This record gives sequence, C-alpha cells and structure tokens, in this order.
Amino acid sequence: MKKISVGIIGFGTVGTGVATILKKNAALLRQRLGATIELKRIADLDIQRDRGVALKPGVLTSDANEIINDPDIDIVVELIGGTNAAKKMTLQAVKNGKHVVTANKALLSKHGHELFSAAAENGVDIAFEASVGGGIPIIRTIQEGLASDRILSFFGILNGTANYILSRMTDEGGDFQDILKDAQEEGYAEADPTFDVEGIDTMHKLCVLIGLAFGKKVSEKKIYTEGISKITPLDIEFARELGYRIKLLAICRGSEKGVDARIHPTLIPEGHLLAQVNNTLNAVFLQSEDLGPTMLYGHGAGMMPTGSAVVADIVSLSRDIVKNTANRVPYLPVNGKKKAGEIAIKPIKEIEARYYLRFSAIDKPGILSQISGILGRNNISIYSVVQKGRRMRGGSVPIFMLVHESKESDIQKALKQIDRLSILRQKTMLIRIEEGL
Ligand code: HSE
Repeated sequence: MKKISVGIIGFGTVGTGVATILKKNAALLRQRLGATIELKRIADLDIQRDRGVALKPGVLTSDANEIINDPDIDIVVELIGGTNAAKKMTLQAVKNGKHVVTANKALLSKHGHELFSAAAENGVDIAFEASVGGGIPIIRTIQEGLASDRILSFFGILNGTANYILSRMTDEGGDFQDILKDAQEEGYAEADPTFDVEGIDTMHKLCVLIGLAFGKKVSEKKIYTEGISKITPLDIEFARELGYRIKLLAICRGSEKGVDARIHPTLIPEGHLLAQVNNTLNAVFLQSEDLGPTMLYGHGAGMMPTGSAVVADIVSLSRDIVKNTANRVPYLPVNGKKKAGEIAIKPIKEIEARYYLRFSAIDKPGILSQISGILGRNNISIYSVVQKGRRMRGGSVPIFMLVHESKESDIQKALKQIDRLSILRQKTMLIRIEEGL
C-alpha cells in the first residue's frame, strides 16, 4: 500500500487536532484513500509540552527545515501563522516539490497569488480549507460544488471571537470591554484580540473568498474594515427592539468586474438565518446564479473542527498524489496560466445603504430639529426616530434614528456637521443595515 508522508510545522491547538485525527482515524483514512498517511515529523519550538497525543520517538523536532528539506515528506502542513516565516517556509516547501496545507488566512490574503503561482510552477498544490471558516468546507464548496455557477454575493460571519462577544452582549446586555475580558479568561479571545475584534481576521478571510469567487487578486487595504469595539449595549438593545441583530459581517456583492466588499458591524433582520448564528459559530450565506441561496454553518475555530479541515486537505492532496493528478483544481476559477488582474473594490464612500444612527445629545428643546435639519440638507430622509429618556455618561440622552437608503458620502458629510454641534456629547454611532441578504 502506498505511503504518504506528512510533516506538520506548528504543534499548537490546530496541530494537536491534526495529529489526533490522523492517529484516531488512521484505519478509516487508509480505507477511504487506499494509502497510508504517515505523520513523519512535527516541528515546534516547544517540543517538551505534553499535548496528549502519543507520538513515536523521533517525530518531534525543533527545526522546521528537517521537514521542509526531508525528501521523504510529501505534504507539509504549515500551522505557525503570521506571514514572514510562514511565507518563506511555504515557498521553500513548494520549491522542494512538496504539497502544502495551510490554515493561514493572513498569509494567503497577503501573498496568496505569489504562493499559488510558485506551487503551479513546481507542479504541487497548496490546500487551504481551514483558512476560512475553520472546519466549514467553504473553500471546497466554492471551488468544486459551485464550479459551474456564478457567485453573485456572499455574507459571512467569519470570526468566532467577535461573534461570541456580540452574542453575549445580546443575551446579557453587558459592555464590550467586560465581555471581552471574560472571553479572554475563558480562552475564547486572544490576549491581544485586535485582529479578531477589529475585523482584520475577517478581512483576511474575505480576501481569500473574493479571490476564489471571482478569480482576481484583492488588495487588502481597499477593503473597508471596521470592528465591533465601539458597539454598546444600547445599540444592541435598540437594534433588537427594531427587529434586528448586530453581527460583524463580511459583505461581498458583485462580479469579476468589481465588488462591493467590506467588513463592519451590521444590523441584519432577526428572521434571517445569519441572525441565528451565535456564540463562536461561523457561517457563510451565499447567493449564486443557478443554485440560488445556500448557507454553510459550523465551527470556525478550535482544535478538532479546524483539525478536521486540515486533515481533509491532507486526504485530498493524498488522492492527487495517488492518482498523479496534482494541480487538478486551480486556485482561481480561471485557466491557471492566465494572469489574474486585481479586482476593483467599490470605495465605502460610494456605497448606498440604510443606516442606524445613535446621537448622544443634551436633552433640550430644539435638538432634534437641528439634527434633522442637517440630515435633510444632505439628502438624508429619516425613516424613524426614538428618543429614550435614559441619561448616558456625560448627561446626554440617546436619540436613535433609522434613515432610508442614503449615500454613504452624504451620511458622512452630515455626521461631520452634526458632531460639530455643541449639543452633541459623543461622536455619533453609525451602523449600516443589510436588508437584502
Ligand atoms: N481567531 C479566529 C476566530 C479563528 O476567532 O474565529 C481563526 O481564524
């Protein structure tokens, strides 16, 4: 029976999941594959800590080069994260004729095209199912399940940490900072949560999906990215009163000619399937021309869910090795030899949306008319307005407003003028609404 040798670089949470699954499911994998997968080496700087997986002597090494340069290893699994060392290792592995599995969305978002071109030149593949949505098979769904279809839009809840914090704020009414602290203590949030809560991790994942869906390169800096750290319990509560949930949403609509792609906290109707995706769960809701709507839902992180996606990639690459069919599925849905251009991204100031606004104003007669006057002069039509009698910090009261579909540029112009008024106590909170998911 053919043997496929695997080396893992990075023995953290996901690496431990991969090693566990390879061991636990060895017989099943052999049966499904008609070949044996051997976990030959694992590299990590810490080779002392017990991860609860029994390994044969000599498997662990602190030198990743012993994997990358080992002529017997067929598949290198890169699980170290970050972009510098991971890029060097991936390129070297590919040049050495090895297939690579990676869960590293930051690496792919930034250097994906260079890495995939290098892989194609060397007749090997880079598999990356675990890079978006953890264990959810969204990559394979787009590459293979939708191979005949045109993607029109997709909306993703792609960060479990942010979704967990928003879900708890919704259920308990707590403050962002308090719940973040809890989440850190419970191990749901990193010590430095910036990438997760400020939308950067979601942006990396969105860039990977845009590349796959539309066959073009994506420039990270053109994607408007706003996180959840400014959301307050007042916003969550009022959104709920209006029949909405607030989610950190990755939004993408368009075609290969250009997309409206952005990440920000978003009010979505409470009856939409995405509004039911809570806690650390992830989901992608996708519309395509022939299939119509489809949604994938599941664990976007964690040892075993992410490990399962990595092992699925190992199996898929092993099948290609067994059948000698490397490069069967190109990274982009265009002929692999065609150069991919960069996709046009609609700047945020050009979008049109409905908006939720929360003003923090002093409680005096005539305030509302000053605010509505400025909105009116900037072509913004009010849909509904509510003032709650509750005083906030600084002695102001919240005025909640929904406005009809407006241009973002008009809204921004109006808010600049409103926030300069002496009656305003805090910067106005703006949250975009998505109705037509
Ligand atoms: N940190 C990510 C999350 C998981 O919280 O969903 C890895 O992409």
